[in-house]
Amino acid sequence: HREQVKAVLAASPLVPVIAIRKLEDAVPLCRALVDGGINVLEITLRTEHGLEAIKQVRQAIPEAWVGAGTVTSIEQYRQVEAAGAQFVITPGVTESILEFGLTSEVPLLPGVASASELMLGYALGYREFKFFPAEVAGGRPALKAFSGPFWDVTFCPTGGITRETARDYLALSNVQAVGGSWLTPAELVAAKDWPGITEVARSSLEVLTR
Ligand code: 3PG
Repeated sequence: HREQVKAVLAASPLVPVIAIRKLEDAVPLCRALVDGGINVLEITLRTEHGLEAIKQVRQAIPEAWVGAGTVTSIEQYRQVEAAGAQFVITPGVTESILEFGLTSEVPLLPGVASASELMLGYALGYREFKFFPAEVAGGRPALKAFSGPFWDVTFCPTGGITRETARDYLALSNVQAVGGSWLTPAELVAAKDWPGITEVARSSLEVLTR
């Protein structure tokens, strides 16, 4: 379970947080991101097309890691398992969803914003967390502070991160990947500008190596 989450976080330093507004966009949008070098995709249940998009993208792009985001209930967790999601991300934690995540074949990356939430997951054996909403929950200083008491925990911060700040987050020793919606700008998606999306992905990765 943990190994699988670690593999996902190690597969790409950038994780696009994707909301599919038109189902027909799901595969070309995700294909464009993969073409730009990003092979971990978080497709959220933020729109009515989330579940179907996960199914379609899993089929169409078997080389990518396709996960479900914005999962807030066990019912949704079951639905994304059935849709073929390879990992699950929640914006926050409940004890029941943390427990469910341990029994599921599909590993959970639980979202936390505080030490107390983290400790709920930690006690159950979780060591990888999403830090959300990263910028308003304390940003990089909060993550640095967490590295003291929770020295063996790794984070994927999301929420308010940009192409410009991604690298600074990734420079922290307890951050392995960062996520965000900046990788799928709404105007490019609306225009079905898939080469434009590929370029955003490519240039966002390139900034990291500079
Ligand atoms: C998430 O769920 O991870 C966030 O909504 C993404 O945040 P962003 O839109 O600020 O990148």
